[in-house]
Amino acid sequence: MRPVAYFYRSIAVGPILCVMLACSPKAATPPVSGSSQLPRDMSTYANIDIFITKHLVLDLTADFDSRTLHGTAELRLERRDPSATEVVLDSRDLDVRKIEASSDGAAWADATYRFDPATPAFGSALRVTVPPDADRVRITYATPPSAKGLQWLTPAQTSGKKQPFLFSQAQAIQARSFIPIQDTPAVRMTYDATIRVPKELVAVMAAEMTPGEKGSGVFHFHMPQPIPSYLIAIAIGDLAFQPMSERTGVWAEPAAIAAAAKEFEDTEQMIKTTEALYGPYRWGRYDLLVLPPSFPFGGMENPRVTFATPTVIVGDKSLVALVAHELAHSWSGNLVTNATWADFWLNEGFTTYLERRIVEAVYGKKLSDMERIIGLRDLGQARADLTVAGDRTLQPTLADRDPDDAYSVVPYELGALFLSFLEERFGRDTFDRFLRRWFDEHAFQSVTTAQFLEFLSKHLLSTKPGAVTDQEIQEWLHTESIPSFAVMPKSDALEKVERARDAWLRGESVEELVKTSSAWSTQEWVHFIDALPRKLDGDRLSTLDRRLKLTDSPNAEIAHVWFRLAIANRYTAAFPAMERYMIRIGRRKLIVPLYRDLATTTEGKALATRIYGKAREGYHPVAQSTVDGLLK
Ligand code: BES
Ligand code: ZN
Repeated sequence: MRPVAYFYRSIAVGPILCVMLACSPKAATPPVSGSSQLPRDMSTYANIDIFITKHLVLDLTADFDSRTLHGTAELRLERRDPSATEVVLDSRDLDVRKIEASSDGAAWADATYRFDPATPAFGSALRVTVPPDADRVRITYATPPSAKGLQWLTPAQTSGKKQPFLFSQAQAIQARSFIPIQDTPAVRMTYDATIRVPKELVAVMAAEMTPGEKGSGVFHFHMPQPIPSYLIAIAIGDLAFQPMSERTGVWAEPAAIAAAAKEFEDTEQMIKTTEALYGPYRWGRYDLLVLPPSFPFGGMENPRVTFATPTVIVGDKSLVALVAHELAHSWSGNLVTNATWADFWLNEGFTTYLERRIVEAVYGKKLSDMERIIGLRDLGQARADLTVAGDRTLQPTLADRDPDDAYSVVPYELGALFLSFLEERFGRDTFDRFLRRWFDEHAFQSVTTAQFLEFLSKHLLSTKPGAVTDQEIQEWLHTESIPSFAVMPKSDALEKVERARDAWLRGESVEELVKTSSAWSTQEWVHFIDALPRKLDGDRLSTLDRRLKLTDSPNAEIAHVWFRLAIANRYTAAFPAMERYMIRIGRRKLIVPLYRDLATTTEGKALATRIYGKAREGYHPVAQSTVDGLLK
């Protein structure tokens, strides 16, 4: 069954809500402002046209022995219908023990509830029957050890090896696997949380923390800004904190913290740069939390504390574009959020564009241009790998699909190219002012592509008639390729790398290459290896490897492209290191292409299956489900 929740019962209320809510920073729903179609989130069962969560109160205990979070979630709702008697929430595999309803938060009465049959894509609708005056529900529940949005790590999977670790990943629709909730980015709520953990551990949430609770086993959090459910996040482990500036710092296991603080020391400068471009940072602190290597993403923009993979800590800051990216989401995403996952490009395309602007301002055009070229190459690869045609466009079709199954870099890179095109046609200054206005006027709202287009035509296109045609805009929205009028990046540094590659391919010695490459950064190495033909002479490959130690590269990005080349060449000398890598690292972007490449041949697939047999238990459930799908 497909969940369909309309933002509004009819378009007529749209403009009224708009007037009521648009100027309030606490606006929970987006104004539709005259849009002709009803935007709806296909990924939620919640009846958000009738009830809207305004505030959430969590009281949860983390039990590492049974691998459960258990306790209560109280939802304070705003009613849109005075006589409604059913609240529908999202849930996935939750063990619900009791639900109560209240109208004042003082007197609580047991409520009846039932689950609809679960669907693989969305879990099950939890239907709670409430009295007509009730506007609060309190659910007592527990998560199963397999909760899709949580990863419970054994001490062996941490760097300290002594304590277990737990972290959550709610985006896109996994919040429902650890909280019964209206799991849609269209709804924003504030929250308070009490988290109970073993005394030796520290809990961190993406919210304000009350200081001085270490060692007590009880932690309190408060999120004063209204956020969508996918930004609720928690990590529990042997975590230490090191400040980097007044408002920035790093959380990590003690063994990892010094290197992390060094790598990310420019974070404050990045914030100042972004503020100068797009307006004030509105979330108070900006910290980074470095997770164990099984974290399935590069980074996750949890508000006030970005969660990050340790694989970007390479010692030379060459991969800190990740920080620029997650920080940029504090504007494009956390402040102005896609209302449905089909509008994901409004989050990631904008953020990718902002990321490169920040990198350009802080580290220079050489690095940002390299990132643009590498992004373009990733886009080409994604378009070739994707099997659903709509996933090659800015707005994939998500009916009956977990948005995660449509995940690719297309909305990132095509979206960023779209914005670069607008920047070129209108000039940087004008475009910067336009973007800043977009963020300011939609702060703390959830927005649709239709709303962006309307804003675009009103505040940018109309200022210079003829600069962009309607047909060009339509092509950006619907094309499966890159429009011929896109502004293509160019990188002198990577062109130099290509010349070095050509020279080496023509037979120049590896010693010459060692000289040319002495100052190469991660991006240059990645480009060099990736731009090599997929079939190479075995002796030359092993000479290259021996001299440059590629198989044993401590840099996970370089090792990744090298392993792909090794697979294509059946360069088996690299396979034992590749196997260790695939067991140690759970970052999807780094491991999935390796499984996919291996699976193209029979013996490769056998190897992939064998490695996965050892690696699977160490992966996060979202990485497991991707690789399961690939090797099935
Ligand atoms: N918000 C994403 C991660 C995400 C997207 C998680 C969709 C779950 C569903 C985050 O901002 C991101 O894009 N991370 C990238 C790194 C970035 C530098 C491109 C990643 O994890 O690879
Ligand atoms: Zn992102």
